Amino acid sequence: MKHKILVIHGPNLNMLGTREPEKYGTSTLDEVNANMEAHGNKIGFEVQTFQSNHEGNIVEKIQQAREVFDALIINPAAYTHTSIAIRDAILLLDIPVVEIHLSNIYKRESFRHKSLLCDVVTGQIAGFGMYGYLMALDAIVNILQL
Ligand code: DQA
Repeated sequence: MKHKILVIHGPNLNMLGTREPEKYGTSTLDEVNANMEAHGNKIGFEVQTFQSNHEGNIVEKIQQAREVFDALIINPAAYTHTSIAIRDAILLLDIPVVEIHLSNIYKRESFRHKSLLCDVVTGQIAGFGMYGYLMALDAIVNILQL
């Protein structure tokens, strides 16, 4: 049985490729997802991806992940800095959670320096662009001791 990994992309990440490419790169979200699925397949994961611009939809997706997925990778985008609801939803999970950011949020505006999730996730990857998502999958292999 393949391990199931859920990947959640937050608001405005559906615009990847055209959105501030100097910060977020030129790959589209479909390309990011295809790369993750391909890399996941190679290392024995079934990767399911989900994007929403709505906080409540993300909260519901996290709630539904309970007892279904073996790990969660989440880029909460702007909700990183504002959402107690997403933080609380993550606290419902007892699986590894990797927080990911394409850009290095600590090199940017001060309001991006604070993540409301950073102390409730397993770990955070920031600043490596799309490659960070593949790093997250490799980190999960290690965390799950596969
Ligand atoms: C982001 C960083 C956030 O501050 C920003 O609001 C995003 C993307 C990143 O991937 O670098 O939308 O999460």
